[in-house]
Amino acid sequence: MQPFFITSSGTGTGKTLVTTALCWQLRQAGKYVSALKPVISGFDARDAENDTARILRSCGLPAEPKMMDIISPWQFKTPLTPSMAARAEEKPMVDMDKLVAFCRDYHVLKSDFLLVEGVGGVMAPMTKKHTVLDWMVALNWPIILVVGSYLGAISHTLTALETLRTNGLKVAALVVSESFPADVSLADTTMALENFVPRDVPIVKIPRLRDGAEPWKDVPSISWIVESANK
Ligand SMILES: Nc1ncnc2c1ncn2[C@@H]1O[C@H](COP(=O)(O)OP(=O)(O)O)[C@@H](O)[C@H]1O
Ligand SMILES: [Mg+2]
Repeated sequence: MQPFFITSSGTGTGKTLVTTALCWQLRQAGKYVSALKPVISGFDARDAENDTARILRSCGLPAEPKMMDIISPWQFKTPLTPSMAARAEEKPMVDMDKLVAFCRDYHVLKSDFLLVEGVGGVMAPMTKKHTVLDWMVALNWPIILVVGSYLGAISHTLTALETLRTNGLKVAALVVSESFPADVSLADTTMALENFVPRDVPIVKIPRLRDGAEPWKDVPSISWIVESANK
């Protein structure tokens, strides 16, 4: 099974959109996909649009509380980074060793692909001492980095890429999901990025989609990113 970790330059950029689109597209192609959102904040099990529910729905699974507890064992109601949410709710911080073991244990299940959506951006605090970067380094899985096309996104993107690279992580693809509103076009953003992004990192564009109940179905084909990495 080929695992991937989906991270981004910041929160609200398109990680869930990319994760759900990959689940949907790979399943349409007859592949077995497991997807996890191990840590979720701002979580309300009754909200059908929470990340966990979206991931389950894109995998054709029921978005029931029992299923949500399986793929998202660390849940916080507060919409803050996990360390702050834990503090606000007077709950223990996420145990990083247990979190890494949880992801690795899923890895032994038989699927063609395992997708793990992180939280926030590359260096969002998980505990008082750890960020998402520590989680990714411990797993050492290929990374799918999701970024936007807003003014400023290029610097955020290159900073995130450089951080991943200097920490020895392999970036399988850079996905630019069109921001709205945006002062810069998607085409201009990706053209500028091409000058700085290493040649072996494919840059994939997702244009702004119309609002829909199942946005993952409207994303252009991106599953080749993971299928080519699996060869
Ligand atoms: N290209 C896009 N077109 C339309 N909506 C998008 C696009 N990219 C992201 N969004 C929307 O922006 C919001 C944040 O995206 P999401 O995937 O939840 O980000 P993240 O998981 O990184 O926090 C969601 O409502 C999502 O559907
Ligand atoms: Mg998300």
